Amino acid sequence: MVFEMTDHIYIFGREPEISLSELESLLGAEAITPIGKIAAMVQPKKQINFNHLGGSKKAGTVLLAIPSTDWESIEKSLIKWLPSYIEQNYSRQAKIQIGLSAYGLNVNAKRVSKTGIILKKAVRAVNYSVRITPNKEPSLNSAQVIRNKLTSENGLELLLIKSANKTLLAKTGSVQKIDDYAKRDQNRPFRDQRVGMLPPKLAQTIINLAKGEEKLKSGSKLLDPFCGTGVLLQEALLMGYEVEGSDIDPRMVEYSAGNLDWLKKQFNLNKAKSNLEIGDATRHQWSKNFSLVASETYLGAPFHSAPSMNDIKQAEQKVTEILEKFLVNLSQQTPQNLRACLAVPAWHTKNGFYRLKTLEKLEQLGYTRIRFKHVDSFNLIYHRPGQFVARELIVIKKSE
Ligand SMILES: C[S@@+](CC[C@H](N)C(=O)[O-])C[C@H]1O[C@@H](n2cnc3c(N)ncnc32)[C@H](O)[C@@H]1O
Repeated sequence: MVFEMTDHIYIFGREPEISLSELESLLGAEAITPIGKIAAMVQPKKQINFNHLGGSKKAGTVLLAIPSTDWESIEKSLIKWLPSYIEQNYSRQAKIQIGLSAYGLNVNAKRVSKTGIILKKAVRAVNYSVRITPNKEPSLNSAQVIRNKLTSENGLELLLIKSANKTLLAKTGSVQKIDDYAKRDQNRPFRDQRVGMLPPKLAQTIINLAKGEEKLKSGSKLLDPFCGTGVLLQEALLMGYEVEGSDIDPRMVEYSAGNLDWLKKQFNLNKAKSNLEIGDATRHQWSKNFSLVASETYLGAPFHSAPSMNDIKQAEQKVTEILEKFLVNLSQQTPQNLRACLAVPAWHTKNGFYRLKTLEKLEQLGYTRIRFKHVDSFNLIYHRPGQFVARELIVIKKSE
């Protein structure tokens, strides 16, 4: 693996396989080089709007490859390299705030903090005033990076990422704006526990998986036929899509409408186009001109304690009936090659995930599964500890 020093690096969130599939979907397999389950390198020509990515926590530029993964050696390299890097890139007028984040390396938070203190001395020796952000974990979280202004003009977060027998050193340029996500999630006026809470980050990933490599043309319309309270539509509007949503439950359509109105006011999206209708996805007629479908479909009954196999099979039967009829209905209304990403249920059991059997026969329903090179396309499961119903992400296109 040869890295260009201008390459960009993306640090994955909690579901690395899903994060990687999102990048591969948007940029193509050739443009990215995965670094274990931690991160991926992306060719500099292929850039994306970081704020639209759901699966990556941070993005940075690679500065150096250190030929070791041993922390003592890494520390020595940093002591040598950092003072001149600071002299070349920072002004002595302001105090510099530096943070360190280690990924995949055999080091604990205390040791990383100790290195920080050593580096502080080295930078002070060349007459800079420096503050170090202490580590609670080997890597700093997004809140710490934002609070300490590490991506500002006078800030520097150094990412140290194990890559085979080397350590890549990168400088963070972007970090997930967790407060913005929380605001969009918690402040929207209509929420409903029963339909589940699709995290906005996951909504973004579903949209990006549905989008693929195609450039977004202005006015591209995204359809969510199980729109619920509209989380996915909200994120799609913010990403520049026109949106169409439908749901069988009139109350949900009202909720989505209220949430989209709120979003448009909050984010000055008065011109953004949205259309909502009450409709049963198994037979509804949507407008003809949507370019992609992204949806968290019906997930079956929620479970608050471990379901029995019988419970799971009952839920599966109901979900399958709706999903199959929906897919047939959709395929009658869409052009060939139309791409969709759907979140469908997978049930967490003590023997692993119980997956919908119908996914094995999508071909018969007129769809082809999109295959990714860097990840197993048949294993994209989003699951939080303690949840009994997980979401499996399937990326499909209408067969030719
Ligand atoms: C898991 S929820 C989607 C939640 C949504 N992502 C949100 O942001 O709130 C599934 C939705 O599918 C709807 N639904 C169930 N069966 C349906 C059908 N046959 N046609 C359309 N919508 C249906 C439910 O009313 C529910 O709102």
